[in-house]
Amino acid sequence: MTDKTYSPSDDFTAGAHIDAAKYDEMYAASIKDPDAFWAEQGKRIDWIKPYTKVKNVSYDFGNVSIKWFEDGELNIAANCIDRHLEARSDQTAIIWEPDSPDEPAKHITYKELHENTCKMANAYKALGVGKGDRVVLYMPMIPEAAYAMLACARIGAIHSIVFAGFSPDALAARVNGSEAKLVITADEAPRGGRNTALKVNADKAFKNVTHDCKMLVVQRTGGDVAMEDGRDHWLHEVQANVSADCPPEPMNAEDPLFILYTSGSTGAPKGVVHTTGGYIVYAAMTHELTFDYHEGDIYWCTADVGWVTGHSYIVYGPLANGATTLMFEGVPTYPDASRFWQVCEKHKVNQFYTAPTAIRALMGQGDDYVNKCDLSDLKVLGTVGEPINPEAWEWYHNIVGGGTVPIVDTWWQTETGGHLMTPLPGAHALKPGSAMKPFFGIEPVVLEPTTGAEIDGNDVEGVLCIRDSWPGQMRTVWGDHERFEKTYFSDYKGYYFTGDGCKRDADGDYWITGRVDDVINVSGHRMGTAEVESALVAHPKVSESAVVGYPHEIKGQGIYCYVTLMGGEEYTDELKVELRNWVRQEIGPIASPDLIQWAPGLPKTRSGKIMRRILRKIAENDYGALGDTSTLADPSVVDDLIENRMNRG
Ligand code: WTA
Repeated sequence: MTDKTYSPSDDFTAGAHIDAAKYDEMYAASIKDPDAFWAEQGKRIDWIKPYTKVKNVSYDFGNVSIKWFEDGELNIAANCIDRHLEARSDQTAIIWEPDSPDEPAKHITYKELHENTCKMANAYKALGVGKGDRVVLYMPMIPEAAYAMLACARIGAIHSIVFAGFSPDALAARVNGSEAKLVITADEAPRGGRNTALKVNADKAFKNVTHDCKMLVVQRTGGDVAMEDGRDHWLHEVQANVSADCPPEPMNAEDPLFILYTSGSTGAPKGVVHTTGGYIVYAAMTHELTFDYHEGDIYWCTADVGWVTGHSYIVYGPLANGATTLMFEGVPTYPDASRFWQVCEKHKVNQFYTAPTAIRALMGQGDDYVNKCDLSDLKVLGTVGEPINPEAWEWYHNIVGGGTVPIVDTWWQTETGGHLMTPLPGAHALKPGSAMKPFFGIEPVVLEPTTGAEIDGNDVEGVLCIRDSWPGQMRTVWGDHERFEKTYFSDYKGYYFTGDGCKRDADGDYWITGRVDDVINVSGHRMGTAEVESALVAHPKVSESAVVGYPHEIKGQGIYCYVTLMGGEEYTDELKVELRNWVRQEIGPIASPDLIQWAPGLPKTRSGKIMRRILRKIAENDYGALGDTSTLADPSVVDDLIENRMNRG
């Protein structure tokens, strides 16, 4: 924590949607009378049938139910496309910047977005997909990914996007988990100058798909792929025979819009379910106010549509607001470390939103890559996904933002649908590393972790819960409402439990301190340690494993794996490589272990519970402060582990 603060300039504040006084007034109103506040905000969206009810929520454990605008009807694709056609049919909706700067960018107008989305929707219908059916997207960052999402919304199908970096096994699990009728993929996904064989991966996944499911394939590179008769279809072929008009399906506000799998502390990833009305109201509002988006701005979020950030802040929020949203296929360091800044210059980007891990990696490459680009159009910078260290914040502010552009450090989660805490750029004096203030309607509470008692006042620390609901909140876990209640509403009764720790400083501003559960955050990607552990023990030579996070300079946290081997197996450098590749294959490259250590035994309590606290300390080289080890079944394993840390790698 630093004591420095950075106030917005008078000019910025004068032109901003929200200044300090307006924030205070609106925030107070949002907490005092949520029904009235959200009834008004709901008008951001065009409703086919207006709502008469606003909020209907119970956080009572055993009876958790969350509904917003429950008798309203709307269509999200109509809100993101059709309603803009009158005023802005020739305005660019999506700027697509390909992986290679040598390939031309595309500018897709709202009119073209309408046509492409309708054709995609009619292609779904031609393949037998209708309202309520699940469609899995396993796609590169190409405009067709946005069309595919909006086409689902248009006909009322539920999309579930699987990040294209996930393995065939992970894809199969998600296709089976939602019994999807259709998977959309592409021949290949170019990224950083290399092509990932997406269709080949999808074919591998389909070997484990247990029900009838079709595949729709987008031609991205023209690479050679095998098509299975009857099952696989080229998008361009199906589209050749469909109409360019598809009427939007009226959807109830509480009809599901999408499922997005995310990691928790236990078990397999769970399918977070978001619904229609509340989600789009919240995504549109946060996009406008957090980024101080104004008519005509060019807005760029560098996330992938495979994560929630891509859902809310590349596609739904910006398009609902009639914005021009930039979609980037590539990576920050290809062809070199100036790529982000060149794209900002080329397309005159006004709002730029990225992850701390990218900022740290680019900071390490030196300032020249930034300084040679003209970034004078930037008005607001944003970060998301993990805590940002003050050093990276200062670099972002001074070098990228020229010392004047405000940074919004947005704290939120897949579960929350949109930003829950963030400074508003025209309202708040920024503190590097602080998510600052709750968004409208959000009441954060800091709880004492063991008793669950609310900690009042300032200059306090504890676990972070939210007192009441907001429209963008997830509604359930797909197919497992009990798990939903247990995960978020059972530890601290009557609140939504975030899984994060936080501090409220002397001024009442919030600082997220990181996860308090067994979730780690690697390069802004959420990873359940249990998932990596189950991948490791699936290897025939591994008998047990325990995975923890440790501080990593670029990634924020790295993945540290302790493995115990089957009797007779020897720990060698080759096995280390083999295990690393194994995890990449089981889950995907994002789960690749950073360090693996052989553990002759794991520190367990007498009841068999692994004491991760100890493993975390050893991973952090902090073994002077291991705390009480007397409850361990065999305290001597700790010395072995400290000694054996020398063989990690
Ligand atoms: C972490 C990403 C600190 C946090 C939108 C949260 C953050 C988890 C921030 C959710 C931030 C996200 N500062 N930590 N600005 N934003 N986190 O579901 O631990 O992928 O619980 O959603 O990321 O990750 P998820």
